[in-house]
Amino acid sequence: MTTSFSTFERLKDKGITAFKSGEFTSAKTYLIEAAECMIELAEQAKTPQLRKQQEQYAAELIDLAKNCDQYKKSGKPSRQRVSNEDDSGKNASDWIIKEKPTLGFDDIAGLEDVKNEIRIKMIHPLRHPELAAKYGIHPGGGVLLYGPPGTGKTMMAKAIAHELDAVFFVISPADILSKWVGEAEQNLQKLFDAARAEPMAIIFMDELEALVPNREAGGANVMQRVVPQILQELEGFDEKEGQPLLFMGATNKPWMLDEAIRRPGRLDTMIYVPLPDAPARFKMLEIYLGKRPLSDDVDLGVLCDKLNGYSGADIAHLAEQAARFAFLESIAGKQQRPISMKDLLQVIETTPPSVKPTDLKRYDEFAATN
Ligand SMILES: Nc1ncnc2c1ncn2[C@@H]1O[C@H](COP(=O)(O)OP(=O)(O)O)[C@@H](O)[C@H]1O
Ligand SMILES: [Mg+2]
Repeated sequence: MTTSFSTFERLKDKGITAFKSGEFTSAKTYLIEAAECMIELAEQAKTPQLRKQQEQYAAELIDLAKNCDQYKKSGKPSRQRVSNEDDSGKNASDWIIKEKPTLGFDDIAGLEDVKNEIRIKMIHPLRHPELAAKYGIHPGGGVLLYGPPGTGKTMMAKAIAHELDAVFFVISPADILSKWVGEAEQNLQKLFDAARAEPMAIIFMDELEALVPNREAGGANVMQRVVPQILQELEGFDEKEGQPLLFMGATNKPWMLDEAIRRPGRLDTMIYVPLPDAPARFKMLEIYLGKRPLSDDVDLGVLCDKLNGYSGADIAHLAEQAARFAFLESIAGKQQRPISMKDLLQVIETTPPSVKPTDLKRYDEFAATN
């Protein structure tokens, strides 16, 4: 057998590069080849310990290959890193995603109750630390945002970082599976250390049900090792005196979460982020149509009523589709024309809300009992 470590490295790098640029079909092929290579290497391993490690590594690559099918379907965009240094992955701190978000509370339509709860729990204590201490109010802790997809949970987490001028770190299962394979524990440790080193930081765990799934929901190999570490790191957070470190999680499937994540000191405040109400939908229409050419017949009030049951992401998408419609007709040689009421109604009629009534019921039930 002549499989060498460098062959493995080459295949793995190709697989991961393809994964990151969204070429999931070729990523899958390379990753499986890399995993096969690693299995061969494991068979020749000098110590049982090394053999076990290498088998584990091969299993993680296979997990990642399996995820390719899933991402191919959902068309998940690969994430951009802040640091643009060499992409070899040798320096783990390069893998950390941190950003200073620029969107604030005003960019989020509606969700006034959510904003208020967050002001009370997170923003005021950190903006007025002396006063908070005087009243015995401890900043920090964790907030879990849950609700249907496309309601602004990720937006909200970023906006909080902006309001607090905090550095925003993201942990997502896609990152762990694609970039951290084989090194998830070390990189997680580095990420938490980097966050602790900032004057103020938020660690945001997106798609939390995939990061911290309960037993029923299952989860990939690598996740099963990462979860206890995340829980342990969260535990250590509050103990750091005067360290304004916040953590937030978001999930579309709260019922799939491991209960342990919700214990005191972890993500102990749960906030429901519902579908937009009428004023929020109106504001969204203003945000997403306001900067586009509109014909006089466009009646936002009528659209707002018709959009009951649609999410923020749905509304942003509908506006874009109607705009594309008018744009294409304008370049097709016909006259340049604004977006009409007819364009908008047509898009609404042919696009049902992404959240089904049965799903909504499940959120409401969960919110009522949690
Ligand atoms: N409350 C909102 N106000 C304005 N835009 C929204 C809102 N909710 C969703 N959107 C739109 O939908 C997109 C997806 O929102 P996101 O925060 O990723 O949803 P979630 O994390 O809840 O799935 C946003 O980028 C934005 O265009
Ligand atoms: Mg999100």
